[in-house]
Amino acid sequence: MAEPVQQMPGKANTGLLRKKSIADLINSTKKGRALNKELGSWDLAMLGIGAIIGTGIFVLTGLGALKAGPGVSLSFLLAGLACAFAAFSYAEFASSVPVSGSVYTYSYATLGEFFAWIIGWDLILEYLLAVSSVSAGWSGYFKSFLSGFGIDLPVSLTAAPGAVSGVTTYFNLPAFLIVMILTGLLALGVKESKRVNNIMVIIKVAVVLLIILVGAFYVKPANWSPFLPFGAVGVSQAAALLFFAFIGFDAVASAAEETRNPSKDLPKGILLSLGICALLYLGVSLVLTGVLPFGDFKGHEDSPVAYAMSMTGHNWVVGVINVGAILGMTTVMLVMLYGQSRVIFAMSRDGLMPKFFSRVHEKFRTPFASTWLIGLVAGLVGALVPLDELAELVNMGTLAAFIMISIAVVVLRKTRPDLERKFRCPGVPFVPALAVLFCGYLMFQLPGQTWLRFLIWLIVGFVLYFAYARRNSNMNQSE
Ligand code: ALA
Repeated sequence: MAEPVQQMPGKANTGLLRKKSIADLINSTKKGRALNKELGSWDLAMLGIGAIIGTGIFVLTGLGALKAGPGVSLSFLLAGLACAFAAFSYAEFASSVPVSGSVYTYSYATLGEFFAWIIGWDLILEYLLAVSSVSAGWSGYFKSFLSGFGIDLPVSLTAAPGAVSGVTTYFNLPAFLIVMILTGLLALGVKESKRVNNIMVIIKVAVVLLIILVGAFYVKPANWSPFLPFGAVGVSQAAALLFFAFIGFDAVASAAEETRNPSKDLPKGILLSLGICALLYLGVSLVLTGVLPFGDFKGHEDSPVAYAMSMTGHNWVVGVINVGAILGMTTVMLVMLYGQSRVIFAMSRDGLMPKFFSRVHEKFRTPFASTWLIGLVAGLVGALVPLDELAELVNMGTLAAFIMISIAVVVLRKTRPDLERKFRCPGVPFVPALAVLFCGYLMFQLPGQTWLRFLIWLIVGFVLYFAYARRNSNMNQSE
């Protein structure tokens, strides 16, 4: 396979859009100590489902129903379609560039270093904030779970300062502790993490199926009418929020270097996890809005699923839902922390982040120290910062990454038509164009405040690129 010449021999390329050749990217995975190859397609699908089903379905569905009415199932469909179009591009890249770092790495090969940096920076926003915000939601569910056994944790130690109006709060201890436990697990090894993840995913999927099966008996079709009380506007605003529920399948791509047969298993894992979750979400949203008039979710935005099921009179189901939600959120944090550490690992190996982040532990074969550092930061943010509107910021970051990968797949078809692709995104360039259209549309449904925060994050990223990453990039070394 001929690689296009990216650099002048003997002279470093200093352009903003300098690209890494795919051969270089793949070679870099062979330098230094390798990560353990422990994952197959089934593990990857479980990893994807682990990252996908969590706060979105267990918590945000109620808010979604208040925005869209019973048509919230269409909002799930819309958000799911935006993800599916992008997922095909993920699958194609994952099958042809099996390197940790996901869309960051793919952008390095196609759009150039500056875009790669920005997208890596953007993925940090996605994964870090997802972990922190889910940890706060986890703590809420855990607290109510314990109170079911008569154990009441003090409010001052279960919320970030300023998170509860009229109450002095110091630190969200359960949120911090769960992130630390998961960090310890990840630092120990991908095999151990995979086992724990698989068990928890099986239980949470069983809980979601239980909600659908029990709830189906209590659906009153009259509750579905009118189906679209707030029209298309309500459906699309809810879709922009519920997009959060699908985030996570993209983290599967960051497992490339720990996958036994990446070019075959990664596309399968990505598409399977997304497809299964989309079906489950459709089922849950139809059932919930059928059991209750959508307006009844007002005042129950924190636990809409448990509330709707309590209306069926099966109180034991409510207890089971709490367990499902707690496990669901646990695996979301686990896989997001994992994705985060692997993206930073890849950026560090390329010289764009300090070398510390790509050091692999002698015994555990994981980026041990960096996993702990990332876990600590995510845990502290979750414990100390009130994170009300962060789900929307996570969505913004992820939508930007999906747009980037969809553009990149078309670019790579043009620049490297010869590259071996075990999986090909169907309908190029139309499917990637639909992804850009759908994701762009959802981005514009997000509030102005979210755009502002996103732009500030990007500006910080620009500054760091010119102050650090560009100077330390491995691409500065002359050939
Ligand atoms: N999709 C993940 C969740 O819903 C982020 O919690």
